[in-house]
Amino acid sequence: MDLKDKSILVLGATSSIARALAEELAKQGAHVHVAGRNLTEIERIANDLSVRYQQQSTAHSFQAADFKSHETLLNQVESKNGKHGLDGLVVAFGELGDQIEAQSEFEQAKSIIDSNFTGAVSILTHAANHFEKQGHGFIIGIASVAGDRGRQSNYIYGSAKGAFALFLQGLRNRLCKSGVQVITVKPGFVDTKMTYGRQGMFLVASPEAVAQDIVKALKANKQVVYTPWFWQWIMLIIKTIPEPIFMKMKM
Ligand SMILES: NC(=O)c1ccc[n+]([C@@H]2O[C@H](COP(=O)([O-])OP(=O)(O)OC[C@H]3O[C@@H](n4cnc5c(N)ncnc54)[C@H](OP(=O)(O)O)[C@@H]3O)[C@@H](O)[C@H]2O)c1
Repeated sequence: MDLKDKSILVLGATSSIARALAEELAKQGAHVHVAGRNLTEIERIANDLSVRYQQQSTAHSFQAADFKSHETLLNQVESKNGKHGLDGLVVAFGELGDQIEAQSEFEQAKSIIDSNFTGAVSILTHAANHFEKQGHGFIIGIASVAGDRGRQSNYIYGSAKGAFALFLQGLRNRLCKSGVQVITVKPGFVDTKMTYGRQGMFLVASPEAVAQDIVKALKANKQVVYTPWFWQWIMLIIKTIPEPIFMKMKM
């Protein structure tokens, strides 16, 4: 896929992975539009992209759980964008949250689920219909290896990411005949503010390396990408551990 002059909206653009990805896409000549809940920071990112890569970047407000605003946001990006319309959407927002708190406070669990799953379903429902109608486009959804198997240390976040991956799989199955590419990205541990100071991390990747893997997958028309690549094999092993053994492991 040639990314030159493609118009792409990145949601959750203050994320370290999203920032690195926005730069990679802009380097390839795409017009990268950015959205997030901290509008001041989002405007700074849009200006930075415009100045450094000589492309048109617009800034927008986005809240995962403000479901009613999602269709308006997509229309806004399209109308501000004139003839370029919208060719791609990146769902990078997500919240790790506090597993211990979420085990006793449903509101905390709901916030994690809305930030990682329900919010993504809401915006992607509109985006999918839009891309299907126009007969081309792509969706990149950042899920997680945490969604491949439920673990006691993060099963609220993990189940939301797992549901998101399943949703993307269904969407891909529906949209492939319309020429719309849907990519599920499953990063392992990445060095970002989400994981800052967390214990027990290993094989930690940089956001830049993850962003490069995502762009490679997009250009190669891949469906599911583990990043870095070795997480596919780590997760394969983890998924094959029999449940009677797995349930006694402290993970
Ligand atoms: N870091 C890892 O090890 C890792 C591993 C696997 C998957 N991931 C996934 O990768 C994606 C990017 O995360 P990251 O590691 O780059 O972390 P990050 O820097 O903490 O980024 C998270 C992003 O999500 C946004 N966000 C959170 N809740 C939101 C909500 N309710 N509405 C709108 N935006 C919301 C944040 O906005 P604010 O800046 O306003 O907080 C931020 O832009 C996430 O989906 C994450 O789950 C990360």
